[in-house]
Amino acid sequence: MKDDKHHGLTFDEWDEARFPRAEIQEFDRVVERAISRRGFLGGVLAFGSGAAVMGTAMLKGTTALAQAGGRFPFTQIAAQTDGTVHVPEGYDWQVLVRWGDPLFSDAPEFSQETGVPTEGSDRVFGENTDGMELFSIDGREILVVNSEYTNNDINLVGSTTAEADSLEEERAPSSADDVLRLQNFQGVTVMEVAEGDDGWSVVIDSPYNRRITHNTPMSIDGPAAGHALMQTADDPSGTQSLGTFNNCGSGRTPWGTYLTCEENFNGYFGATGEMPTDEMIAAGYARYGISAEGWGYNYHLYDPRFDVTANPNEPHRAGWIVEIDPSDASSTPVKHTALGRFKHENAAYALADDNRLVVYMGDDERGEFMYKWVSRDAYEDGGDTSTLLSEGQLYAATFADDQTGQWVALTPEATGMEPAEIAIFTRTAASAVGATTMDRPEWIAVNPLAAEAYCCLTNNSRRGATNDAGEILTNAGGDPMTVNAPNPRETNEYGQIVRWRPDGGDHGADTFAWDLYVMAGNPTVHQDGPDAGTDNINAGNLFNSPDGMQIDTTGLIWIQTDGDDSNEGEFEGMGNNQMLAGDPETGEIRRFLTGPNGSEVTGLTWSSDRRTMFVGIQHPGAPFPDGEGALPRSAIITVKRSDGEAVG
Ligand code: FEO
Ligand code: CA
Ligand code: CA
Repeated sequence: MKDDKHHGLTFDEWDEARFPRAEIQEFDRVVERAISRRGFLGGVLAFGSGAAVMGTAMLKGTTALAQAGGRFPFTQIAAQTDGTVHVPEGYDWQVLVRWGDPLFSDAPEFSQETGVPTEGSDRVFGENTDGMELFSIDGREILVVNSEYTNNDINLVGSTTAEADSLEEERAPSSADDVLRLQNFQGVTVMEVAEGDDGWSVVIDSPYNRRITHNTPMSIDGPAAGHALMQTADDPSGTQSLGTFNNCGSGRTPWGTYLTCEENFNGYFGATGEMPTDEMIAAGYARYGISAEGWGYNYHLYDPRFDVTANPNEPHRAGWIVEIDPSDASSTPVKHTALGRFKHENAAYALADDNRLVVYMGDDERGEFMYKWVSRDAYEDGGDTSTLLSEGQLYAATFADDQTGQWVALTPEATGMEPAEIAIFTRTAASAVGATTMDRPEWIAVNPLAAEAYCCLTNNSRRGATNDAGEILTNAGGDPMTVNAPNPRETNEYGQIVRWRPDGGDHGADTFAWDLYVMAGNPTVHQDGPDAGTDNINAGNLFNSPDGMQIDTTGLIWIQTDGDDSNEGEFEGMGNNQMLAGDPETGEIRRFLTGPNGSEVTGLTWSSDRRTMFVGIQHPGAPFPDGEGALPRSAIITVKRSDGEAVG
């Protein structure tokens, strides 16, 4: 989700307005640690051979690598500030699908004046495309894609109620009809795609096509299923809920199912009367940011399920990893509570040496944590997978300054909490074991060619900042966001990527070594100090706020950004949000693609033959992709090499 899309406020401003914490002192904003750029990198020891190469290749620039023959199969492009997409010479891009495009022949026709009417709003491609995965099923290409949140001004363009009731410039949902329309634009799209002479398109009416919305029936398994905190008037069993929410990043399982990750679920809930007073529920609301007024979706005003005065447990039924079977459009998605409840970014799997399933996950909020799930049973090709996301152990990460780290098990003994409470209030459990506060963990990617994984730590404006009393600011659970080794920069505006290698090369290990793969920065604005970034940042590849990430079959790390695209001040020279490729061995990073202004580039997957890359363009500010006079519409584009060779 873009930081500055909430009702004219930045996310930070919105959050601050509702959960006021002490002001950051201006003097803290401009403090730079008195260490040189080289000295800073030197303090963050890189790994093995990669370290040696990083030291020299960075200093010498790209020439040696280019001569060594094309680790990067493209020529880096310049930063851009315009309203369209750019890719390197020798590559082409096309639009696959936009918000509002039909999945079924009975879908309403999209109108530039009135958008999509409520009737049929669950028959079209959803809004704010995000994480996606492609599955090859019976020789067909099935793309499964998240629709994260809404842009009410655009999505309610045809609503008379929204316009009539809106006191502000932005349209506010102001009827049950408005709310249902927004609920239908979010969730998940499953759709068959096929390549023809004119490129890729959606296969209308494919039996695989499906929209999963905020009202689709789900089942709940794991330790929280059936617990009193999960029970509602509509579902006294606490095992069946409706809808999946704020579907951000994605994941997949080795057995061919899709994992959708519920992120900022808290924003959909509000109160028409009293907020719950039960101590445990109220503490959970405070930790997860559930407020009486909600985030402007206004669901609670028109759909009682989202009114916590009447349904205090409904928010406990969101914030999960949800498994979807793309091969069966009638299957019921499953919320796997064993993997914890937090603001899930994505879910990246690996297999331990003994074939137990490992899932790495991040909680995207300032000062929240990184997690790992390890199944009890081993994965076997074609074997029983029914326990692999419900029986096992959840861990939270601690990072030590000596570049070691540990996955600490969130057990009843360690946390003092019951299994269901650990599942529902996972943040509290992780705080109890002293997990390391991170700079907003976004996507995690596992290297398929080496026993290592990476996490984008997108930024954290409050890292190391203090209040008027001189106290370090905390996350919502009171854990101080003191500068620490993996989050080494005060008021971190640019972000970094942390990498870890499990001890023994086994993702099942409880311990790991870590380094920083890159610390983004702006060496053209800051000649020295941490805001210049690490040595693999240069005038040619400037970016901020790494977010989406995938590692392809050749081992290239694809990094997507969701940051400040003002191209001014601290961000001068960075241009629009973009997608870059990084070499895990040398650390070299080159810009591959730029998005239209106002957009975030998020979501990446490949066709089965690897000749097509699917890339998500979320919330363009420019009238992308249809040009002047058209509504800006989130879209998935395809990127191919002109010579038809593989792109990863
Ligand atoms: Fe939905 Fe943290 O990005
Ligand atoms: Ca993201
Ligand atoms: Ca982001």
